[in-house]
Amino acid sequence: MTITSAPRSSAGHAGSVRIGLLGLGTVGGGVARLLLERGEAIAREVGRPIELRRVVVRDLTKARDVSVPDGILTDDPANILDDPEIDIVVEVMGGIHPTGDWLRQAIRAGKHVVTANKDLVATEGAELLRLAASHGVDIAYEASVGGGIPLIGVFRQDLAANEVQSLHAIINGTTNYILTRMAQDGADYAPALAEAQALGYAESDPTNDVEAIDATYKLAILASLAFRTHVPQPEIYREGITRLRADDFRAAHDLGYVIKLVAMARRHHRGLGEPDAIEVRVHPTLLPRDVLLAGVNGVYNAVHVKGDLVGDVLLYGRGAGSAPTSSAVVADIIDIALNLNAGIANRVPFKVAGDLPRLPIAEVETRYYVRLWVADQPGVLAQIAQAFGDHGISIASCIQKETSGAPEGSAELVIVTHLAREAGMRAALDAFARMGAVREVANVLRIEAP
Ligand code: NAP
Ligand code: HSE
Repeated sequence: MTITSAPRSSAGHAGSVRIGLLGLGTVGGGVARLLLERGEAIAREVGRPIELRRVVVRDLTKARDVSVPDGILTDDPANILDDPEIDIVVEVMGGIHPTGDWLRQAIRAGKHVVTANKDLVATEGAELLRLAASHGVDIAYEASVGGGIPLIGVFRQDLAANEVQSLHAIINGTTNYILTRMAQDGADYAPALAEAQALGYAESDPTNDVEAIDATYKLAILASLAFRTHVPQPEIYREGITRLRADDFRAAHDLGYVIKLVAMARRHHRGLGEPDAIEVRVHPTLLPRDVLLAGVNGVYNAVHVKGDLVGDVLLYGRGAGSAPTSSAVVADIIDIALNLNAGIANRVPFKVAGDLPRLPIAEVETRYYVRLWVADQPGVLAQIAQAFGDHGISIASCIQKETSGAPEGSAELVIVTHLAREAGMRAALDAFARMGAVREVANVLRIEAP
């Protein structure tokens, strides 16, 4: 499928480009500030002024840390959606309802759209792109993934000659901030989350960050672009970071790994005549300390792509926060304004080459880290090795440390496996649950080496 259209706009448009801004929070405030404070430089770039015509918020009484010109703040979206003079609607309010309906209304009225809303792009993006194409307007969504890091343009255009083999990404600033603070400073989970919220990185409901829902939206967008297919967000396998404990960070460190929330997608070439499949998953992952992504800390995000021509590419930068995200939003505004000048739209259509089936999680092969509490008795290790062996899993290393805080008669085992199938691992874990000697499976994490 190719979504494309004839251009609607006419070249040589005079006067300013008029913006209607939906939202004046963390990102919207940054966008307004940038448009107002760097107006002259942006006008030089575009060849004409960009005018902030209207700003819609929910609560007009709220104190703002950005001051917008008198009379432009409103709580009525009709002031943007029904204003025929507004050229570009910039949506930085978030959510799917009523946002999707408002953007459809804007598109039908012939307005171009810039959005930072990954939830909406991941769930309704294909429909919005089709609608925009049929009305000859653009939708730009660079800020929806990776904050200020150029990603969408890279996948849409710069890597277009490649067959992408895999991508591994750290694409949630909040969780990376929390995991970095826990790993490097021994911080507890709750204060690290509170810091990320205070810094404006977290979503209004941090569940979306810590349960990795936010990362699945972003992975759905990136994987759809990278593999030229439609990856539905609900089909992405997901585990959040809330089960991680200080003991996992200690054990991972001792083994030479770091723990990151990794979003990954990988192409599987199958037999002759069979379509390729892709695996798409987001979960806490052990990365060897010497791989590129392992050094991505704090609010920084990075995407490591392997293309068949280009080889390895690492895109790295600030993945959240007001200034980096508004950098991407304003770049999209400038891009659309330049298209308006040239009288074009939809120059780079979103192309779907075919529907690549998703590999079920049970068929995924990876290495595993398993931390167990077992009865400290003769023969227990042999029982565990037997259960793994019964399900085709080979142990690469097993460490038992004498731990001062261990419950009486218990020992902690940290086991690393060779490559194993997820289905085999789940069957082995079921066997452990029936084994009296296994007191607790404290954590099971997958190991990747992108
Ligand atoms: P935010 O701080 O919560 O701001 C949301 C803004 O939208 C507020 O000004 C709010 O008005 C307004 N708003 C929300 N619902 C509204 C409604 N129904 N009618 C009118 N106005 C409404 O959110 P944010 O962090 O800036 O995020 C905005 C979008 O950018 C989201 O899609 C988010 O996923 C995305 N994003 C955020 C970041 C980041 O670092 N924060 C990075 C990349 C992408 P009031 O101010 O009156 O409440
Ligand atoms: N909550 C998101 C994050 C904001 O922490 O990455 C950027 O999308």
